[in-house]
Amino acid sequence: MTANKETKTNIFDNNKDDPEFFIRKCTVEDLDGVIEVNERELPEDYPYFFYKSILDEFPESFLVAQNINGEIIAYTMWRVEKAPSVNSLKYVNKAHLVSVAVSEPYRRKGIGTTLLSNSMAAIKKYKIHEYVLEVRVANYIAIRMYEKFDFKIISIKKTYYRDSENAYFMTLNAKKN
Ligand SMILES: CC(C)(COP(=O)(O)OP(=O)(O)OC[C@H]1O[C@@H](n2cnc3c(N)ncnc32)[C@H](O)[C@@H]1OP(=O)(O)O)[C@@H](O)C(=O)NCCC(=O)NCCS
Repeated sequence: MTANKETKTNIFDNNKDDPEFFIRKCTVEDLDGVIEVNERELPEDYPYFFYKSILDEFPESFLVAQNINGEIIAYTMWRVEKAPSVNSLKYVNKAHLVSVAVSEPYRRKGIGTTLLSNSMAAIKKYKIHEYVLEVRVANYIAIRMYEKFDFKIISIKKTYYRDSENAYFMTLNAKKN
């Protein structure tokens, strides 16, 4: 995918009065900036091809926040998987949150919330039934943010992370969102 004027200027409906940042779809040129934010803010990192394949497959819900200098300060990305529903054996499309992070100096300004709300709306294009995510059990800030969206903890995944920390598995019915 190459950057084009349309995607570069696709500003979502958020804090239009605040010139500090804006939110738009990610382009391939943004990936180095996304990786920098990820490596600074989260212990989980991924190879370049992983980001690129998420961008190629699910571009609508791969969003970035940019500051007034054009630097990438936050991102979120999702993928869609077929998996059994939490309530039945039926296979359904689930939107799985791959990652969300906001650079430390820009936190608590609503960027995480804006990224999630816009990406969750965008991923509905893939006819999803549920949103799912894992979060470190100690990451109370992220847990609070997900609870604001009405995500519920439905199980614990033991030693989910490479450093052995447990994860909460949280889900949200897409019809309620
Ligand atoms: C989690 C994260 C993405 C939130 O981004 P953010 O832009 O600061 O979030 P917002 O400003 O939209 O806040 C969303 C909600 O999160 C919670 N929250 C955010 N910062 C908080 C803090 N310091 N203390 C308590 N709750 C907090 C609040 O519920 C907040 O809603 P409110 O402002 O209405 O009270 C950010 O802290 C981050 O990048 N953390 C490191 C990476 C990470 O943990 N990612 C999640 C991996 S699963």
